[in-house]
Amino acid sequence: MQILDGRLVAQKIRTELKRKINSFYEKNKIVPGLVVILVGDNPASQVYVRQKVKMAKQVGIHSKVLSLPKDVSFDKLKQTIQNLNTDPAIHALLVQLPLPSSLAWKEVIAHIDPRKDPDCLTAENQGLAWSGQARVLPCTPAGIMKLFEHYNITLKGKKAVVVGRSQIVGLPMAQLLLRANATVTVCHSYTKNLSQITKEADLVVAAAGRQGLLGKNDFKRDAIVVDVGIHRTVENNKKILKGDVLFEELKNGVSYATPVPGGVGPMTVTMLLENTFQLACLATESRTHA
Ligand code: GUN
Repeated sequence: MQILDGRLVAQKIRTELKRKINSFYEKNKIVPGLVVILVGDNPASQVYVRQKVKMAKQVGIHSKVLSLPKDVSFDKLKQTIQNLNTDPAIHALLVQLPLPSSLAWKEVIAHIDPRKDPDCLTAENQGLAWSGQARVLPCTPAGIMKLFEHYNITLKGKKAVVVGRSQIVGLPMAQLLLRANATVTVCHSYTKNLSQITKEADLVVAAAGRQGLLGKNDFKRDAIVVDVGIHRTVENNKKILKGDVLFEELKNGVSYATPVPGGVGPMTVTMLLENTFQLACLATESRTHA
């Protein structure tokens, strides 16, 4: 089994991105700017946001975190987003999900200017993506496609199964695989005989958000397994991360697999940086063509 090493591929992409951001700065004297809005004190979100800021700095993106209390009102959050929409130094604006249950995420996201939406989550950007005209692609699926590219994994004609249908991962993943000429099945919590379906797949993307949902017996021998799950857990008094897939079971059973941590996670963060840069380029182009 070959490990799809997200840390390695992400580092390679960031090295190239840093070079592109440098030359963009030389030409335009503009530093790409990213703001992450963090509502509440979800510990996992705090860790992810710190990672995003640290990596942004490494590649030359100016980033800041706006922390708001978990009982922030919808109106206050909306006003914060609208202020950032009109700030010319900010090219990408990410509202870290999940939001506290008192806030409906779709209603919040709807206030982000689609030109500043690095998650590709606004309705406009989702429509553009489905019609093949995306400004940027959603970070996790785009990162997974980069992993396939790096390891020369061809998708044409493959039977692909996506487990999970979230707007941020499952649905756009299915769409990108379809565009790459795979034959795609999307499974979800109401799917009957999941194992029977995954066992027939050449490629499985596990994005169900359920720890250990799939193991060795759910894959065919040479399957490619991509694990999007991130679950914080404790084993032998140690805090560790686990995925939707029982990675330890796979060993030589499948042909490729992503570990957790070190697989999809670093790719997602890196694609956020890549998207921030792309949005800065688009904003600059439209300004010079105005
Ligand atoms: N929470 C976990 N991953 C993500 C992501 O990619 N984007 C946003 N907005 N929230 C997240």
